[in-house]
Amino acid sequence: MELDLRGRHAVVTGGGRGIGRAIALALADAGVHVAFNYLRNRKAAEATVSELQQRGVEAFAVKANVADPGALASLFGEVRERFGTLDLLVANAASGVERDAMDITLRHFQWTMDINAWGFLSAAQLAVPLMQNGGSIVAISSLGAIRAFPYYTAVGASKAAIESLARHLAVELGPRQIRVNAVSPGVVETDALTHFPNREELIAGALARTPMRRLLTAEDVAQTVLFLASDLSRMVTGSTLFVDGGYQTLA
Ligand SMILES: NC(=O)c1ccc[n+]([C@@H]2O[C@H](COP(=O)([O-])OP(=O)(O)OC[C@H]3O[C@@H](n4cnc5c(N)ncnc54)[C@H](OP(=O)(O)O)[C@@H]3O)[C@@H](O)[C@H]2O)c1
Repeated sequence: MELDLRGRHAVVTGGGRGIGRAIALALADAGVHVAFNYLRNRKAAEATVSELQQRGVEAFAVKANVADPGALASLFGEVRERFGTLDLLVANAASGVERDAMDITLRHFQWTMDINAWGFLSAAQLAVPLMQNGGSIVAISSLGAIRAFPYYTAVGASKAAIESLARHLAVELGPRQIRVNAVSPGVVETDALTHFPNREELIAGALARTPMRRLLTAEDVAQTVLFLASDLSRMVTGSTLFVDGGYQTLA
């Protein structure tokens, strides 16, 4: 069996930059038409759209906050108009307040949960009616779902929620031949790390702890998403796949 994704249709949330961009490009390299949303960085989104189109696939980007139900509905409405059907949703967009547990306010917590956990669930609710021939839903989690890291309280809790949502959705959507999985990457050097006061320590610590002796790249994460998008993983559902060079297995 080959990884043949030509002609399929995908939505990647937060596809303009970072890991989402790498996923969108890897999908386009495999012949997948890609729609994605962005929130603030229009220039990066436009650059990614033209990189996708240069690969010979259909591609477009819509400005939409994943925490805003109306904006997300517009994104999927445009997907319905332009693509007709959908085969893959990658819930990648994330945000969050980087604070210790004792400094988290209700507003910080709700902000993070709304974007990361509700954003995933509501995107899945909108994607499923477009998946008429089965499909695959992949949510990008992180090791903070199962481990405690400094300043990661709210985001870690939202990632644990994502992994639980993936399991519940997998059970509910299995009879419709829609698979739902989470991917849990280790540290990847993207703009996201600039929000952490301990960025240098975080990177050095990840490198020192990783048995594979190099940091993860966004492309490493994208390759795993390709696997979960394809029929190579046709009986993989309700799982969280670690892509971390072995980081989380170390005692
Ligand atoms: N970097 C890491 O070390 C790491 C490790 C494990 C897991 N992850 C996960 O991987 C995913 C991507 O991370 P990244 O490092 O690539 O992050 P990033 O560089 O900060 O990019 C975040 C992306 O999400 C979009 N976004 C943020 N808030 C949004 C909202 N409310 N509505 C719509 N789009 C929104 C951004 O859009 P704009 O471009 O418009 O700002 C951007 O495209 C996240 O789920 C993250 O938690 C990252």
